[in-house]
Amino acid sequence: MPQDVLLYFLNNLGSLYRMRRIYPHGSRQVLQTARQAYQRLSEWGKPIRITLLGQDLILEDRRIDPIPVSCQALFQVLQQLGFERIQIGADAQVEDLLNWVEHIVLKHQPPYQSSKILTGWMNLQQRTSPQSLFTRSIMGYLGFLAETQGILADLEARKPEGIVRAREVVSTIISRLSIVRELFEPIRELKNFDDYTYTHALNVCILSSALARALRFSEEIVNTVAMAGLTHDLGKKEIPKEILNLKGALGSEERTLMEKHPYFGAKLLLEIPNVETNHPLLPVVAYQHHMGYDRSGYPRIDQRMPSHPLHVVSQLVAISDVYDALRTVRPYRPALSIEKAASLLIRDAWVGRLNRDYVSPFLLLLNVLSVGKKVILSDGTKGKIVETHTNRPLCPMVGDEQGRVFDLSAPSAPRILEIEEDEENLFDIPRSC
Ligand SMILES: [Fe+2]
Ligand SMILES: [Fe+2]
Repeated sequence: MPQDVLLYFLNNLGSLYRMRRIYPHGSRQVLQTARQAYQRLSEWGKPIRITLLGQDLILEDRRIDPIPVSCQALFQVLQQLGFERIQIGADAQVEDLLNWVEHIVLKHQPPYQSSKILTGWMNLQQRTSPQSLFTRSIMGYLGFLAETQGILADLEARKPEGIVRAREVVSTIISRLSIVRELFEPIRELKNFDDYTYTHALNVCILSSALARALRFSEEIVNTVAMAGLTHDLGKKEIPKEILNLKGALGSEERTLMEKHPYFGAKLLLEIPNVETNHPLLPVVAYQHHMGYDRSGYPRIDQRMPSHPLHVVSQLVAISDVYDALRTVRPYRPALSIEKAASLLIRDAWVGRLNRDYVSPFLLLLNVLSVGKKVILSDGTKGKIVETHTNRPLCPMVGDEQGRVFDLSAPSAPRILEIEEDEENLFDIPRSC
């Protein structure tokens, strides 16, 4: 079992620390434990990433709960010293493990850097306080995630308490939206973390309420958007796990069933006491969140309907839903970068699947169309954004290598086809401290 190998390694690492505290450096006992850890690392055959966030220990993308007794002393000392991330190379040797544990036993502060083991903080910026805003925000995010899990379980069981708990969580999230990046960063970085059902519900809740706030909707609408984001995919409960986790393309029968999840979600929400009276938009959004602004998508919209049937809250949730799904690893594809996901949102906005008036402020929130960003235009031109138009973020001024400047807001100007990726990675361990 590959995951067991990881857990054994963690245990060995904990034992190595305990042994070294009891026995001197270079002693037989310490050496033996280091060899055991090395053996597990060789079996695993890939780098190992350990993250410490508050009371949480995360091994690769998996939260370890409870923390094994053998690792508790190590966990505590790492916490006290302010370590947040340990990255052990697949080719680390016994000697590397011994040197690293020596650094910890001697209670040296982070960072620790050898060619095989990096330990330090999660943020690139150096800082003086032991706990960064980034870490605190991730801890806040993890708290919301645990709540989301409980809320969705209540709602799936048609318990009205789920709605009460959702309102509480949503009001806390909204109160923190003024520092939007605080909650956006964990979304960016924890995209693979924990169960997709919960992270996705929470992310769509945060992203769509931030969008509603940016659009200056009333507090009541912002609240409704957040609640709707949290509950939009409840209907997936009715879809068998094998279909949700299918690696290949869905067959026609499977697709038909999958496309019923908006209906299942709306039905489930209507079965919860008082939802229809007190939160009538929740079932509406659950039903509409896959409907395109151009009437594409599902459930199919009767093309003969005279007026546009999509509620504005459904349109906001749909944008965050598409974005978060693209940013997450799925069984059938890897996670896309922010730039790639944003490029696809732009495409959907131009073809009309998403409302362009709402996609633009969403991209502003993500800060993906700022000055200096490299873009490829629909006529093949490659360039950099040199100036932005506040009221038309999708149509900035772009300069190319020949010194020409294109105003994309001009009639018949090319459009942005693709935003190129940045090389920055906030989760890197500092390499030059
Ligand atoms: Fe959905
Ligand atoms: Fe969704």
